[in-house]
Amino acid sequence: MDKTTIICRCEEINCEEIEEAIGHDARTFDDIKRLTRCGMGPCQAKICISLVADVIHEQTGSHLHEIPLPRMRMPISPIKLETLATNSTTFSSVKSVMDEVELEEGKVR
Ligand code: FES
Repeated sequence: MDKTTIICRCEEINCEEIEEAIGHDARTFDDIKRLTRCGMGPCQAKICISLVADVIHEQTGSHLHEIPLPRMRMPISPIKLETLATNSTTFSSVKSVMDEVELEEGKVR
């Protein structure tokens, strides 16, 4: 992978920045996230998680199954503030909020 290859599109973090974080003893996705903001974009690491794991694997020799998953925080999927603001009157449960999000994203169950 080229050093200028963008790993995290949301935060525009390239491979060299990930390798630099690993050089500062970052060994997990959360370590790299704290040092670079990688994974803090709108997709919440859905796109970059596997690429970061590959770089950690290449740089440290850790097996992919040994690299811990990042800590996930709500909302797992980006939602509009309007959706959150109207939660108490419009939505009766988290499930109904998630259903609304999926409708907005065009997902069909
Ligand atoms: S690509 Fe990394 S947070 Fe979206």
